[in-house]
Amino acid sequence: MDDRFNTAAGWALFAGIVALGGTILSGEYFHHEKVEKGGYEIADASPEGGAGGGTAAKPVDFSAGDPAKGAEIFKKCTSCHTITSGGANGVGPNLFGVMGQKHGQVAGFAYSPGLIEKGGVWDWAAMDQWLTSPKKYANGTKMSFAGLANPEDRASLIRYINEQGSNLPVPPPPAAEVAEAPEEGGTPAAEAGAPAAEAATK
Ligand code: HEC
Repeated sequence: MDDRFNTAAGWALFAGIVALGGTILSGEYFHHEKVEKGGYEIADASPEGGAGGGTAAKPVDFSAGDPAKGAEIFKKCTSCHTITSGGANGVGPNLFGVMGQKHGQVAGFAYSPGLIEKGGVWDWAAMDQWLTSPKKYANGTKMSFAGLANPEDRASLIRYINEQGSNLPVPPPPAAEVAEAPEEGGTPAAEAGAPAAEAATK
């Protein structure tokens, strides 16, 4: 009798603890969600672009980048960034001369701790990784931008950014062949995924 009661009480207590833990965890989760979704997401990356792999990125041929094309691509950034000398900070910091600078050094801009803690300098490789997937690069970043999946677009964009007040020497082409045709449009993969997911629930 007593034993049974104790067992039942024990399970009830245990369930309560689990529920409490769950609440705390989901609270944390939503907290992060809120921070990340501070602005609006500009979807440009195909699912494989930044989220995939965990393997080393393909080498980007910056020497093949076209700064004029990069200026066009930069229009995706102008809702949040200026890139002229002395330009104002907006949702994001002014980007004039950012190449070669330390992360998060623009005066008067409140960066996320994630980006500050990353440390280091915006060199070609760092900027390439950042623009592939800001979230992967700096955990908890405030930059609500999905990333650019196409390495040629990133090469052009970074060449353009470099010309706005930095003018670092452009790296030579990577020794290895740049892998052909970047994956454009995630639709076929997404469509293929849907029936599979349906099948799995049955
Ligand atoms: C929705 C607004 C938004 C868009 C669009 C956006 N950014 Fe940002 N960007 C930010 C914010 C906010 C930060 C500060 C990030 C942080 O503190 O974590 C940032 C930071 C940066 C930084 C780091 C600057 C520094 O001083 O260290 C670079 C470089 C950058 N963005 C480049 C770009 C480029 C290039 C694009 C376009 C492809 C772009 N951003 C699009 C909001 C945006």
